[in-house]
Parts: sequence; structure tokens; C-alpha cells
Amino acid sequence: MMITLTKWSLCFIFCLAHSTLVPAKHLCLPDQKDALSEFKNEFYVHDPTGYGEKKTTKWKNNTDCCSWDGVSCDPKTGVVVKLDLHGSFLNGPLRSKSSLFRLQHLQSLYLRSNNLSGILPDSISNLKYLTFLDLGHCNLFGKIPSSLGNLSHLTTLDLSYNHFTGELPDSMGHLNKLEKLCLGRAGLSGNFPYLLLNLSSLMWIELGSNQFKGMLPSNMSSLSKLEVFDVSENAFSGIVPSSLFMISSLVELNLGRNHFNGPLEIGNISSVSKLQNLYIGKNNFSGPIPGFISKLIGLSELSLSSWNTGKGIVDFSIFLHLKSLTSLDLSYLNTRSMVDLSIFSNLKLLSVLDLSGIHLNISLTLHFPSPMIMLVLSSCNIDEFPKFLENQTSLMYLDISANQIEGQIPEWLPNSLIVFIASDNQFSGEIPRAICELDNLYTLVLSNNNFSGFIPKCFEMFNSSLLILHLSNNSLSGVIPEEIISDRLISLDVGGNLLSGKLPKSLINCTQLQFLNVEDNIINDKFPSWLSLLPNLQILVLRSNEFYGPIFSPGDSLIFPKLRIFDISDNSFSGVLPSDYFVGWSVMSSVVDIDDIRLVFGILGDNRESYQRSVVMTIKGVERELVGSGYKIYKNFDISGNRLEGDIPESIGLLKELILLNMSNNAFTGHIPPSLPNLRNLQSLDLSKNKLSGKIPPELGKLTFLSLMNFSYNNLEGLIPQGTQIETQNSSSFAGNPGLCGVPLQVTCGGEEEEEETKQEKEQQVFSWMAAALGYVPGVVYGLTIGHILSSYRRDWFMKIFHYFA
Ligand SMILES: *[C@@H]1O[C@H](CO)[C@@H](O)[C@H](O)[C@H]1NC(C)=O
Ligand SMILES: *[C@@H]1O[C@H](CO)[C@@H](O)[C@H](O)[C@H]1NC(C)=O
Ligand SMILES: *[C@@H]1O[C@H](CO)[C@@H](O)[C@H](O)[C@H]1NC(C)=O
Ligand SMILES: *[C@@H]1O[C@H](CO)[C@@H](O)[C@H](O)[C@H]1NC(C)=O
Ligand SMILES: *[C@@H]1O[C@H](CO)[C@@H](O)[C@H](O)[C@H]1NC(C)=O
Ligand SMILES: *[C@@H]1O[C@H](CO)[C@@H](O)[C@H](O)[C@H]1NC(C)=O
Ligand SMILES: *[C@@H]1O[C@H](CO)[C@@H](O)[C@H](O)[C@H]1NC(C)=O
Ligand SMILES: *[C@@H]1O[C@H](CO)[C@@H](O)[C@H](O)[C@H]1NC(C)=O
Ligand SMILES: *[C@@H]1O[C@H](CO)[C@@H](O)[C@H](O)[C@H]1NC(C)=O
Ligand SMILES: *[C@@H]1O[C@H](CO)[C@@H](O)[C@H](O)[C@H]1NC(C)=O
Ligand SMILES: *[C@@H]1O[C@H](CO)[C@@H](O)[C@H](O)[C@H]1NC(C)=O
Ligand SMILES: *[C@@H]1O[C@H](CO)[C@@H](O)[C@H](O)[C@H]1NC(C)=O
Repeated sequence: MMITLTKWSLCFIFCLAHSTLVPAKHLCLPDQKDALSEFKNEFYVHDPTGYGEKKTTKWKNNTDCCSWDGVSCDPKTGVVVKLDLHGSFLNGPLRSKSSLFRLQHLQSLYLRSNNLSGILPDSISNLKYLTFLDLGHCNLFGKIPSSLGNLSHLTTLDLSYNHFTGELPDSMGHLNKLEKLCLGRAGLSGNFPYLLLNLSSLMWIELGSNQFKGMLPSNMSSLSKLEVFDVSENAFSGIVPSSLFMISSLVELNLGRNHFNGPLEIGNISSVSKLQNLYIGKNNFSGPIPGFISKLIGLSELSLSSWNTGKGIVDFSIFLHLKSLTSLDLSYLNTRSMVDLSIFSNLKLLSVLDLSGIHLNISLTLHFPSPMIMLVLSSCNIDEFPKFLENQTSLMYLDISANQIEGQIPEWLPNSLIVFIASDNQFSGEIPRAICELDNLYTLVLSNNNFSGFIPKCFEMFNSSLLILHLSNNSLSGVIPEEIISDRLISLDVGGNLLSGKLPKSLINCTQLQFLNVEDNIINDKFPSWLSLLPNLQILVLRSNEFYGPIFSPGDSLIFPKLRIFDISDNSFSGVLPSDYFVGWSVMSSVVDIDDIRLVFGILGDNRESYQRSVVMTIKGVERELVGSGYKIYKNFDISGNRLEGDIPESIGLLKELILLNMSNNAFTGHIPPSLPNLRNLQSLDLSKNKLSGKIPPELGKLTFLSLMNFSYNNLEGLIPQGTQIETQNSSSFAGNPGLCGVPLQVTCGGEEEEEETKQEKEQQVFSWMAAALGYVPGVVYGLTIGHILSSYRRDWFMKIFHYFA
């Protein structure tokens, strides 16, 4: 559930509460002061916000260092015992000889949320009196040093949110005073760290969101003081040891999002369990839901999501004993039981409920007294908008997607809504103006319904909040109103409607926009080159509209800093592409993989599937029959089905991370650029139905991933290059080229020697687009651009260019 996402911040607050400041009474000692001053100078302080608290910048040499921000001294001896510089915008590595390690008496070191980009040096063990160490969110990498095992006084260790590699060092098995260990999202892997079983003081173990695998140890009873155990989002498998449930101090157990399987045995709970939060959802448990759950009467939050009952019966009454429940996730239990929603109305404290995938009976007269905050009823076979929602005036998150609800969205939607997801139903009529009254809405997903009429202009009401607006696959008409565009928009999908007119110019102000899809409408506009300035745009789909004119005009500089999917196919674009056309498209030409799009999903927490569907559907459209890895890595360029002409720009060779390239169905002439084989990751290449002439570059035959290719209906000639991928192609991929010969065509070649290639001509081409690019790009990006060209072109190409120069 979304609620669990806050766990690590809890871990962090818990740690924080343990570190109260000791007021300084004495002047600090000179060596301590020197060490602090030097430490300060080891970092570059950079605060992009301008408003942050930069503690070290306020340290004054001529004052008592014990009074410096974040510094606390022992009142008797004047030595520094505590340093709290969390979130102080420190940039720079923690050096092994850092003057920090001269503060030998430190007991508490709190550097969370600084950019210490680098390794954690062995010399951390010099601070041998440390009881509290928090280096969470510090951009640390490399191995966790085994010297940590020498910090024998440690009670709290927080290394969460870093990029460490490998396992915990065995030496940590000596930290026998350790009470709290926070390692969420720290980059760790390997088996469960057995050494933890030696640490019988542990109250808090947090290993979530790492790459741990294997089974949990069968006997965990040595952890007799454990209160919180979180190993969620790893790859643990096997049976959950019943000894875990025997730990009578346990308050929170989070095993969610692993591969654990059943049966789940929890032994004999005779004493009253202290368990409050139990998350075991998104695993591979199967069989009946264990009845013992009804005995856990202290439970406040419970998730059994994706427990596979194998289309069996679920006795929902077992949950009714759990009177303290505030959050219940029973989504996707694969049950054939139908449940009457009213039974949950007896849980008076309930505020979060997810029953997705369960066949629900919701009576029109249902009275649901507990004020809900989040209600997820996706795929519940609901055919009428639940009337009881009218009185749910605290509801913030409502997902009723993938049901069979017909008719209109009622006027009485609760004003408290922040997220409203109603996609995949049969809603019809206009989008009600009542939506306009939802002042706090930041996500609205109404895709895949039958809404008609205009998009209401009222969305300007959201100008402070709307982040996600998905209205795809309805029957909406008219223009996309400028008013619906909020500056903070992250994702806009209005594909598959009857929208006309032009793209709203106000999109230019959406600096957060990552995803824009207007496919399958009748939008009649010029190429929106102004979108190329949007710093976060990753996916741009204009497919199947009435866009026209050139996709480039002199004076435009197409930058598209993060674009990785560009689909403008099936429009009426025309004109010639300049040779440097692809110089600015940095993501498609670099290995850097941007997955910011997850931010969008992150906003929706765990219940992102229905929203995600529309993004994925759009991308699936682009990738067509390509199989393989997930959509995250796709880098696609599709300009097929237009009227583009002239040469295919040589600079296409820069887009070396492209997976799909489709330029078919245009009027391109000239040769296939010799730089094309540079696109080594290409899986699909379609150049069919153009007027290309000359030979197919032989090196295309060597591209190992290129499984789909189509050169048909051009004027290509000569021998089809040989290579395993080419030989497996259907002959239709080469049809309609009278001059082509060789496998897989039936035509054998005449045998005449390849005529002397006009090598110099080719080199000249390459040189001229490079020169154009360099002359063209403004000074600031000059170095960057050269960098791209350098890294993108194989060495031999360089030698040729160099040779040409000389
Ligand atoms: C403060 O003291 C440190 C070390 O004692 C010295 O390096 C630095 O120059 C001093 N700064 C000022 C502004 O006096
Ligand atoms: C952190 O520091 C590294 C290395 O100095 C730098 O490349 C990176 O951009 C910094 N990150 C942030 C968020 O400032
Ligand atoms: C721990 O301390 C001992 C004794 O001071 C020392 O010999 C050893 O090298 C230290 N271990 C590490 C890993 O630093
Ligand atoms: C377990 O802790 C004891 C001291 O409490 C220590 O002597 C022993 O070496 C530790 N074992 C492991 C495997 O770390
Ligand atoms: C588990 O360990 C505890 C103490 O460490 C021991 O008393 C108990 O017998 C063990 N149980 C099993 C089933 O091994
Ligand atoms: C889930 O369990 C089934 C058998 O019950 C097994 O076939 C499948 O591989 C398991 N899946 C995972 C992801 O562990
Ligand atoms: C569970 O424990 C209680 C009391 O401790 C005992 O009476 C009962 O027989 C036990 N049940 C089982 C199944 O072991
Ligand atoms: C739904 O619940 C109502 C009242 O609780 C009941 O009368 C009706 O038969 C139920 N419908 C189905 C299909 O079970
Ligand atoms: C909503 O509350 C009002 C007043 O308390 C009540 O009259 C009405 O029946 C309730 N509606 C539903 C659907 O529960
Ligand atoms: C969608 O609504 C239109 C009227 O706006 C109606 O003619 C059409 O039949 C509806 N389509 C579906 C699939 O319900
Ligand atoms: C929308 O923005 C305009 C101008 O920025 C502002 O005047 C107006 O109050 C805003 N509306 C809302 C509902 O925030
Ligand atoms: C973009 O925002 C600026 C400042 O808020 C505003 O002046 C300008 O009109 C906006 N541009 C568009 C096209 O809406």
C-alpha cells in the first residue's frame, strides 16, 4: 500500500529522536576546531534551491566551535561528541584522511542527505566511540567497509538510500549493541546476512528494496527483541520461517514484494501478538488464506495482495475480527467468492481499502460509516457508480477503473479527491463540470471510456496541481483547450479521440512534462519544434493526425534533451532533413538510461497499474511486434507514413542506442547512409517504400540484434549483405528492388566486381554534416556535441575523416 512507502522516513525519524543535542558550556579545544574547519573546507557547498540550510557556511573561525551549527561538545571536556550536518548541501567524497576522523570522541555522526559521492573509507572505524551513525542518502558506493565491525558501541546504523554493492561484511557480526539497522535501498545483494542473527539487541532491521535473494534463516528466535523487520522488495524465496512469528516483540513485519511461497505457518500464538502491521502481499503464496490471521487482533495494517487462492473461496469474515484495522489490502486474491462491501463497514477505523480483482456486491443503500481516505476498487465487476461515496468526504484516492460502470460520472464527487482513476469503464456523456470543483486533483485518468463532447475548459482550476491527465480512447472532440494545461503537468494523454485544431502552446511552460501522447486524432498543426526545449520530455507521440509541413526549419535547434521515443508517423510532414538533424538528441545517442518516468508511477504508489496501462499501451503501439525487454529501455524513432524527402541524414549514425527505426513510406532518396550500421542496438529497421538507391551497407549484416528489417520497394541494388539475421528474413523484406540480388531473394548476382566506391564522396558527406553541426551548435553545448560525435563514431570513421582533412 502507499502507506508503506513512508517506512524509511519513519526509520529515519526514529533514529533522529535518539539524538538530542547536548548544549555546549565550554569552549571547544583548538585541535577539534581545526579539524572542523578543515572538514568544512573538504566540501563544496552547493544548494540548487537557494533556500536550504547550509550549516557549515555559518561557521566562524573566531567563535566557539561548540556553538557552531550542528556541533555539540562534551560540557566537561570540550571535545566534539556530536556532529549533525544532515542536508547541508555538502558535495565531495569523504576522504580516507578526512579531518573528520580526528574528531576521535564523536558519539553521534549525522550526515544524512549530502552528496558524499564516493566510497565509505575504512578510516570510519577511527571514530570508535560512535553510537549513532547516519550516512543515509549520501550517494555512497563501493563495498561497505569491514572496519565498520570495529565500531562496537554502535546502536544505530543507517546506510539506506545509497549505491553500495555486495554484501554486508562479516565483521558486522560484532556489533552486538546494535539496535537499529537501516539499509533500505542501499544497493546490497547476496543472501540474507546471517550475521544479523548474532546481534540479539536488534530491534529494527530494515533491508527493503535491495537485491537480496535466497531463503530467510529457519531459526530467527535469537532476535528476541525485534520490533520491526522489513525485507520488502527483494528476491527472497521459499518458506517464511515460523520462528519469525514466534518473536513476541514483533510490531511490524514486511515481507511484501518478494517470491516467498506457502504454506504460511505461524506456530502457536498463545500470547497476545503485538503485531500491528503485516505486509505479505505481492509474493507467491498460494492456497487458502490462513485462518490464524483472525487471531492477530492488534493489526492496524494488513496486506495479503496477490495471494493466490487458485480461484478458491475466501472467508472474508476472518477479517472482521480485526477491529483495529485502518488499512486492508486484499487485492487480486484470485478468488471466485463474491463479497458484499457492507461487511467491511463494521471495521470502524478503516481508512484504506483495496479490493481490486474481487467480485463486489455494492448495494445502493450501503451505508459505510468509516471515513475512507483511499479506496481502490479496480476490476471488481461494479456496474453502477457506488452511491455511498457521496458521503465519503475525506476520500483522497479513488480508483474504480476496469469495471462496467455506464452512464455519467455523478455530480457529487467528493471534493477531497486528489487522485481519481476511472479508466476502462463505459462512462458516456460529457466529462461533468463537477470535475472542475475538485480543487486538489492531481491525477485524473478517464481513458478508455465513451466520453463525448468537449474537454471542459474548467481544468484551469487545477493550474496549481494537475500532474497527470489521461483522457485517451474516448470520443472527445473540439480543440485541446489551453486551459487544461497546468505548468506542473507530468503526463498528458489525449490519444484516440476526435480532437482537432492545434496543439496548445501553453505546453511550452510544462517543464516537468515527461509523456505527451496525442495519437489518433485530427490535429492539424505544424511540427511543434518548440517542444524540443522541454527539459524532461521522454515520450512524444503525434502518430496518426493531420500534422503537416517540415519537421525542421532553419533556425530551429532541435535539442530534445531526454527524448527516447519519438513517433510522428502517419501524418503529412514533408520536406528535407538537414544532415545534422540528429546532433542534439542526446538520450538516443547515449547509454544513459533515464527512468524518471517511474516518478510518475511513484506518485501513484502501488496502485499504478491502471494508469500505467495507458502509457504502456501507447508505447506498445510504437514498438509494435517487438518482443523482449520492458518498455523502459525503448528508444524509438518513427517517422513513417509521411512525405519526407531528400537524403537520410548521415547524422542518424549518432543515435546509436536506438532500438527501433522506422522511416518507411516516405520519399527519401539517395543512398542508405554508411553510418547506419553504427546503430548497434537496433532490433527493427524499416526503410521500405522510399526511393533509396545504391547498395545496402554490408555492415548492416553484422548487427546482431537486428531481427526485423524491411528494405522493400526502393531502388536498391547489388548484393544483399550476408549475416545471420539477414538470412532469416523473409524475401518480402527485399522485394520491389529490381537491382537487388542474393539470399534471401531468388535472384543470383551477376558476379561483376564492386565498382570503385566513391569513398571520397562519402567522407565528404560526413565531414560536411559534422562541420555544419559544429558551426551550428551554440558555444555552451559545443564541447558536449563534439563529445557525442567522438564517442558515437567508430575510430575508423575518424581516421577517414582525419585523412580527408590532411
Ligand atoms: C580558519 O581556520 C582554518 C584552520 O585553522 C584556516 O585554514 C582558515 O584559513 C581560517 N579561516 C579564516 C577565514 O580565518
Ligand atoms: C554529486 O556529486 C557528483 C560528483 O561530484 C556529481 O557528479 C553529481 O552531479 C552530484 N549530484 C548532485 C545531485 O548534486
Ligand atoms: C579493528 O580493530 C583492530 C584492533 O584495533 C585492528 O587490528 C583491526 O585491523 C581493525 N579491523 C578493521 C577491519 O579495521
Ligand atoms: C557473535 O558475537 C560474538 C560476541 O558477541 C562474537 O564473539 C562472535 O565472533 C560473533 N559471531 C559472528 C559470526 O560474528
Ligand atoms: C532456535 O534457536 C533458539 C536459541 O537460539 C533455540 O533455543 C531453539 O531451540 C532453536 N529452535 C530450533 C527449532 O532450532
Ligand atoms: C510461484 O509458485 C509456483 C508454484 O506454486 C511456481 O511454479 C512459480 O515458479 C513461482 N513463481 C515465482 C516467481 O517464484
Ligand atoms: C498452544 O498453546 C496453548 C497454551 O500455551 C496450548 O494449550 C495449546 O495446546 C497449544 N496448541 C498447539 C496446537 O500446540
Ligand atoms: C447483493 O447484495 C444484496 C443485499 O445485500 C442481495 O440482496 C443481492 O442478492 C446480492 N446480489 C448478488 C448478485 O449476490
Ligand atoms: C449521506 O448522508 C446523508 C446525511 O447524513 C444521508 O441522508 C444520506 O442517506 C447519505 N447517503 C448515503 C448514500 O449514504
Ligand atoms: C458511445 O457514445 C455514442 C454517443 O455519444 C454512442 O453513439 C455509441 O454507441 C457509444 N459507444 C459505445 C461503445 O457505447
Ligand atoms: C490559476 O492561475 C492564475 C494565474 O496564475 C491565478 O490567478 C488563479 O488564481 C489560479 N487558479 C487557481 C484555482 O489556483
Ligand atoms: C508561459 O508562462 C509565462 C509566465 O508564466 C507566460 O507569460 C506565458 O504567456 C506562458 N506561455 C504560454 C504559451 O502560455
